[in-house]
Order: sequence, then C-alpha cells, then structure tokens
Amino acid sequence: MRYKKLKDISLSNKSVLLRLDLNAPIQNGVVTNNERLLRSLPTISYLLEKGASLKIMSHLGRPEENDLFQEAFSLKPVVVELEKLLDRSIPLHSLKEIESMDNISDLVMIENTRFNIGEKNNDSTLSKRFSDLADLFVMDAFATSHRAHASTTGVISFSDVACAGFLLDEELSALLKVKEDKNKSIAILGGAKISTKLGLIDSLSQSMDAVVLGGGIANTCLAAKGFNIGKSLVEPSMLKEAEQLLKNPKVIIPEIVVVSQSPDQPGREVAADKIGENEAIFDISPHYILQLESIINEAGTILWNGPIGFFEKENFDKGTIQLAKMIVASKAYSVAGGGDTISAAEKAGVLDKLDYVSTAGGAFLEFIEGRKLPAIEALIQK
Ligand code: 3PG
Repeated sequence: MRYKKLKDISLSNKSVLLRLDLNAPIQNGVVTNNERLLRSLPTISYLLEKGASLKIMSHLGRPEENDLFQEAFSLKPVVVELEKLLDRSIPLHSLKEIESMDNISDLVMIENTRFNIGEKNNDSTLSKRFSDLADLFVMDAFATSHRAHASTTGVISFSDVACAGFLLDEELSALLKVKEDKNKSIAILGGAKISTKLGLIDSLSQSMDAVVLGGGIANTCLAAKGFNIGKSLVEPSMLKEAEQLLKNPKVIIPEIVVVSQSPDQPGREVAADKIGENEAIFDISPHYILQLESIINEAGTILWNGPIGFFEKENFDKGTIQLAKMIVASKAYSVAGGGDTISAAEKAGVLDKLDYVSTAGGAFLEFIEGRKLPAIEALIQK
C-alpha cells in the first residue's frame, strides 16, 4: 500500500490542513473519553514543531447538514480538551469565517465539517474550498476513512499535496499485519447483530485459521443449528446465512453458555442445547472459553472485535474477561478495535496489554473485511 507519508514532506513555511477524527463521546459539554485526541497528538505536535501553520478539522456526531451552527454538535468541548492537552489556546471558527480571515493564528480549529452542505456527498465545491485553505492536506482520520466525504476524500483530489498522518499510517500498518499474517491467525468476533458482520465473518473465515463467534452473533448461529435458545437475542431473518456459515469448520460457536431469565438476575451455566424456554443467553461460559486455550495459544495473530457477552452487567462479564485475559497472555500479536471492544478490554484490565488498539469502529471493520476505504484509496491514487 503506497501513499505519501508526513515524514517525506518538506514543511518549511507551509500552511497545513489536518483532518482528524475527534468524534469523541461528550456528556454535559465535557469530553468523557479523550483517546482519539491523545492518539492525534503526535501528528499535531510534529506539524507545530516543524513550524507549519495549522488548521485542524473534524466531524462530531451526525448533525443536520444545513450550513448552520448547531450548539449540540459544536466542537467546543473537544477544543477545550485539546487546549488542555497542548497547553495552548485554539481559536474555533466556522469554515466561512476562516475563509474570510486575513490574519490567522498558527493553530486554529474549523467547526464540525458536517455542518457544511455537501460534506456527506463529497461535493466538489466544498472539497475545493477545504483544499484552498492550505498548501498541504494531511489525512489522519483513519476512523472516518470509510466515508467518502468532502473533508476526507474529495479534498485529497483538489489538494496539490496530500499525505497520511502518523495515526493513519500506524493504524494501517497494524491492521495490515493482521490481514497479511500467514502464521496461524484467529479472529474473535462478538457483538449483537450477525447482519452487520456477515461480510466480515465470511471474509475472515476464508482468510484466517479460526473465527470464534460470541454475543448475539453466536445466538443466531446456535438457533440455525436447530438448538432451542429460549428468549435469547436472535435475528430470525439471518438464519439461512448463519446455517451457511456453520458449514465452514473454521467457524467456532460456544457449546456452554450462561443463561438467565433476566439480565438482572444471576446466570447459570448450561450446554447450548439445553437452554430453558424462558431463559436467554447473556454470556459464554468461562469454562468453555478455557477450552479455546490451545487455539489461542497457538495463534500468531489475534484480531478481537466485540464483547462476547453482556459484559456491562457483572453477572455476565466473566466470559469476555476470561477471553481478554487469554488473548493478552498468549504470544500472539493482538489487535483489538471497533464498537464496545475498547470498553470491554478496559473492564478486563487488558487495554494496555494488547499489542494494538484501533481508534476506529466502522472503518476498522470495513478494512479488515477487505473493503476499499475511499479516503485511503484517494491517498494512494494521489
Ligand atoms: C466513528 O466514530 O466510527 C467515526 O467517527 C465515524 O463516524 P460516523 O459513523 O458518524 O461516520
């Protein structure tokens, strides 16, 4: 995969437009998890140290695209957090304001890219307006690189020079290492819905040596196998596809699960074909997880996406925790990402023991599945 990297570019007296993914969770006007900001700091600091005059842009949430300021989706809380991390002030302006300013500070933030009409359909006028803001465009928003938007993709074709930032490069290297590993690779996939991950499971079950399924995904497979799964979360419309998946011997589904009549009551362990009518599966038995030890220990790489049980509830977090601990105890190169995986890893106390933790959700899954990410393709073509 060849694209221009930040270190290859001369930055003296250059103005730079930097696209980050600062789409962080915010509660009561305060950023509650600053991981994406922290992981963006190396690129920001490098550009500032090299004397570049820097304009940063990002989206936040999914506001209405109407060219208007919307307080609830303003990047203000993100700017406050970034100011703390960088220990300097960062003026925040709308795109229009920035375009009309003669005297501009050497570090500014542009308001939510998704306020601008044309962002989501990759409008060429908006893309050109973005590219006109600087001499050089740096794409460092891996987590949004699956969106063909004006600020992620269109802008690249209009910029004279465009390159990847450090985070994007790091994400691609880690994920490519998993994808291209020929030395016993396994995937562990949890999460609620098989419908959202069917393509991924399908593709990984061809390229990897084993795919372990958990969560609602596994429930649908157990139902497709003909087991009575009581009141468990299931996607009836996906039973045929699940049946098809199970024909592949590399796909592993749980044989012992933890069930209960309610997520607020304690669970009991039971064989997956002995679930009561009024019970639902909320976790995979940690004893069953232990049976996977040899597969995990023999793996050269492990890709982990999604908790395998209702890990937010203490009664049903044991399977996910057991699995997470086994992943980091193995000799495998471990990569985790997407959805609730990071919270699950945090709860299991293994977040800093994984070899790589992706900042991305959807982009992580699409890349692993083998789909082309528009912003990455645009960088390669540049
Ligand atoms: C994410 O949080 O996964 C990215 O920021 C992309 O956000 P989106 O799904 O709203 O495009």
